[in-house]
Amino acid sequence: MTADPKRLEDATALASLDPGGMIGLVAGLGSQLRSGFELGRSVEEPPSGEGVRSIAVCGMGGSGIAGDILRSLFSARLPFPIVVTKGYELPEFCGRDTVVIVSSYSGDTEETLSAFEEGVRRGCRVVSVSAGGELGSRSASQAVPHVAVPKDIPVPRAALGYLAAAPIGLLDIMGLVPPAADDVARASESLDSLAPSLGADVPAEENVAKALAVWLLGRTPLIWGSEGLAEAPALRWKTQMNENAKVPAFHALLPELDHNDVEGWSPSTGTPYGVVVLRHAAEHPRIAARVDATFDVIAEAGLEGREVSAPGPDPMDILFSLIMLGDFTSTYLGLARGIDPTPVPVLMGLKERLRR
Ligand code: PA5
Repeated sequence: MTADPKRLEDATALASLDPGGMIGLVAGLGSQLRSGFELGRSVEEPPSGEGVRSIAVCGMGGSGIAGDILRSLFSARLPFPIVVTKGYELPEFCGRDTVVIVSSYSGDTEETLSAFEEGVRRGCRVVSVSAGGELGSRSASQAVPHVAVPKDIPVPRAALGYLAAAPIGLLDIMGLVPPAADDVARASESLDSLAPSLGADVPAEENVAKALAVWLLGRTPLIWGSEGLAEAPALRWKTQMNENAKVPAFHALLPELDHNDVEGWSPSTGTPYGVVVLRHAAEHPRIAARVDATFDVIAEAGLEGREVSAPGPDPMDILFSLIMLGDFTSTYLGLARGIDPTPVPVLMGLKERLRR
């Protein structure tokens, strides 16, 4: 099917191209956040938070990003590190004083199961999060505390609200993060209000996500965030562009990108790309100057950019609003390209091949 931005204004075309209901799923982020937080807080017999010296979050792709979100939200405010491990092994320092959160929506991801076994073997304070699968079974048989998230979501990345908020709830009851209930409630309400303005029935001239998707048609998305709160959203935008819109996409972070990327934007290299810059009220005061200066010094590259800004001063609100905007934008980009955003046949085919 050919790309056609007009498709975004045709409710029947959108519904028939989105049988998995991705538009509705991304709109439900606020409600998932609320439920996920409560699920995390209700885990039976969580490990003690006494003497914890580090937190490691293990998981891949749409599940592993829960770790990036925790880092973006809390790492600047905690007296110990949060590390995110996306692979088979745990860092050497992980031991009895490490909380290891193992996250896999399917529960069957081989790298994540390997990290789970490693955490149990080393006596780490392991807690798992899944919608069943092997991780659910192994947690039950090895008496590892487990958060069971709903099984009825068609793909892991559409369960982000559960996967991200369950660890926040868990760390909240363990006393390892500042009390988060009010922040979660406020962020969820704010997402509930944001979602209708980005909905399928709102035309592109009033809908930031549709307008961005139309602009990105035919360009390769580059997502620029800034250190801290916009880090995880920048990664999420990139991965959602890959999986929902089925396009290559890349992300980079300020201020770091001013120390390498800028040199690569030599004259005329920018035209096939479109930069989306994720901005927010809590970013470091030097970021505004850097965004302007960066575009100035690479002007001859012909790289075009658009900015999106998260409402509100609350960190959780900012982070999840940026994520919701990217989730909608990537979904509309897929639909404008004539692609069903939900299935990921290449990724699933690769898993199947490696299983044989
Ligand atoms: O978005 C996806 O489908 C993937 O990135 C998966 O999340 C990833 O392959 C890991 O699978 P799971 O989330 O089931 O552990």
